[in-house]
Amino acid sequence: MIRPETPADYEWIRALHTEAFAPSTLEAQIVDDLRAAGDHVPDLCLVHEHGHVMLSRGRVDDHPALGLGPIAVTPTHQHQGIGGELLRAVIERAQATDYTLIALLGHPTYYPRFGFRPGHELGIETTYTAPPEAWMVLPLPAYSSDVRGTFHYASAFP
Ligand SMILES: CC(C)(COP(=O)(O)OP(=O)(O)OC[C@H]1O[C@@H](n2cnc3c(N)ncnc32)[C@H](O)[C@@H]1OP(=O)(O)O)[C@@H](O)C(=O)NCCC(=O)NCCS
Repeated sequence: MIRPETPADYEWIRALHTEAFAPSTLEAQIVDDLRAAGDHVPDLCLVHEHGHVMLSRGRVDDHPALGLGPIAVTPTHQHQGIGGELLRAVIERAQATDYTLIALLGHPTYYPRFGFRPGHELGIETTYTAPPEAWMVLPLPAYSSDVRGTFHYASAFP
């Protein structure tokens, strides 16, 4: 039910993000730009029949780390647990990699249930101006406490 994306999915994925984030088209553009730059992590870009999540290469200073986003579920299928299924699946796959953590900017009431914590608790800062509780990280098995500093997303992120 949940699997890595393939080129046959790209058009549908663009339409999904365009619809889920309307009127913003920025997120759909970020998806395309991440792939064009080769900064997405193909094994960690997952589709469900009604949703998509993308992880891309970032860093905390010299430590490899992952940026989560965009994630979207078709508006008519939201609040049915699909976003949660996608998140649990992508976290499980990320735990088998050498990346140190996953970082994201998002709703502070949603992501903590998957293990995300405020970035400032671990000394991980963002370059974005955002409410502190919206900036979150999830340490992965390769994390250690010397991973501290500013998280940098791939260049497709504005
Ligand atoms: C965010 C999103 C991916 C969640 O997918 P989903 O399948 O609806 O999520 P789930 O069914 O697993 O979980 C639903 C919970 O998500 C949380 N949630 C979803 N959207 C939210 C929002 N805009 N603000 C706050 N919480 C939100 C709520 O806690 C909700 O619980 P409820 O159903 O009891 O209200 C989906 O709502 C979506 O595509 N939204 C539009 C795009 C977007 O905002 N993406 C995330 C950017 S951070």
